[in-house]
Amino acid sequence: MNIFVQDTTENLEKYTALTFTSNAEDQEFSKNLQDTLHVYKFAGKTGQVVTAPSFGFANSSSVLVAGVNNTEKDTLRIAARAAGTQARKNGCSNVAILASGFDEEQALAVLTGFAAGNYRFDKYKAQEKRTSGVQSLILVGNVDQGVAKKATALINGRNFCRDLVNGPPAEIYPETMAQAARDLANDQIDVLVWEEDKLQEENMNGIIAVGQGSSNPSRFIHLTYKPKTPARKKIALVGKGVTFDAGGLSLKTSGGMLNMRCDMGGAGTVLGVFRSLVELQPDVEVHGLVGAVENMCAANSYKLGDILTMKSGKTVEVHNTDAEGRLVLADCLAYGSKLGVDYMVDLATLTGACVVALGNHYTALFSNEEDLCLQLQTAAQNTGEGIWRMPLPDLYKSMLSAEWGDIKNVGGRAAGSITAALFLSEFVSNTKWAHLDVAGSAFYDSPFHHFEKGGTGSMVETLCEWILS
Ligand code: BES
Ligand code: ZN
Ligand code: ZN
Repeated sequence: MNIFVQDTTENLEKYTALTFTSNAEDQEFSKNLQDTLHVYKFAGKTGQVVTAPSFGFANSSSVLVAGVNNTEKDTLRIAARAAGTQARKNGCSNVAILASGFDEEQALAVLTGFAAGNYRFDKYKAQEKRTSGVQSLILVGNVDQGVAKKATALINGRNFCRDLVNGPPAEIYPETMAQAARDLANDQIDVLVWEEDKLQEENMNGIIAVGQGSSNPSRFIHLTYKPKTPARKKIALVGKGVTFDAGGLSLKTSGGMLNMRCDMGGAGTVLGVFRSLVELQPDVEVHGLVGAVENMCAANSYKLGDILTMKSGKTVEVHNTDAEGRLVLADCLAYGSKLGVDYMVDLATLTGACVVALGNHYTALFSNEEDLCLQLQTAAQNTGEGIWRMPLPDLYKSMLSAEWGDIKNVGGRAAGSITAALFLSEFVSNTKWAHLDVAGSAFYDSPFHHFEKGGTGSMVETLCEWILS
């Protein structure tokens, strides 16, 4: 999708104009357009979108009239997303968003919102059912061209993540994740991939154990983005990259397994952010760490009762092989703790308990670093992605007490996402750290809030915003 800003409605003859309004009697509309909107029962509510002939409106070929209850960023984003979905259904390739009264933040919200709604994962559909989506998007307004550039970067990152999450497990497995990372390498991004021998040598035994029951060998991926100017801060993003979670010997039910290709959502987000970095050019050094594995049920799978000596040296008693993400992350966090970064943030589709607690819109945030929490919450507020802070109390650590090893990998039924976060905290040292459980927000089982079913790319924008802040 190409995005431009222009300040007039010149040369829009081949474009569908998208306009936001709360009423069909909008003074900008001709009588014909107003009558048409009445016929289609346009009520101006946020999320409603009506397609109509333009009757000369904005020199365009047709119009999409999107309802908005107000012009707050969140409202505009929802309305734009609905319009993006409608534009795809209509087969529009050129859209001009009329945004003359909007400031830069509102303009960014409508551009990224529109693109989010315009996305489809239909490459496995029959040719005649595939749609190409909008190719050329013009923002008609009085904002800087830089807004178009930033929107493009964010959209590319988000879609990169969504493609990875939506891709079936036969296509997206540890080596193809590593290849996706290598494809991002350039003069500013270095990519290092460790294969199984190296994982052994480096005592990444959490990653090895989880992946050993799979015929697709595990990988550890380390991307490094270096700015062209001296770095203002150094951060590490860590992603759970379980490309398929069958549960291991603690096998999931068929229903529970169906969407477990989404279990690399955290890793997909990390790679998505790297996709955006090149275009955003922040003066921040960013490390991306991904543990990529498949958690399968096989003769050589790791077992309940196994005691793993992790990269950090701590031993973990395995009580459930379906609590695998924390084992993979533990080794990545131990590695990240040695990078000397100012902040480390991990992302993981870690617990079903998180989905029970917060549903699909919210990512759970865990951290005892007040200032880091505030930074991430502020960034999320700017992007409209839901984030909700959860407690991380030492009080619950005893739930992870082990009989034979240092710690066990499950805490019990109560406070499932909290004990998972506490487990991770045991493998972080000397670094300000936050954990984002994206179990609900990375993937939607059914359409919600103008996001279709599937990968959402949630948190790509928020992390980019945080990096830029
Ligand atoms: N990948 C799952 C968590 C998950 C569930 C992500 C639903 C997205 C949607 C994770 O590996 C898992 O299976 N967790 C277990 C932990 C339990 C065994 C302590 C869970 O949540 O049931
Ligand atoms: Zn699992
Ligand atoms: Zn998992």
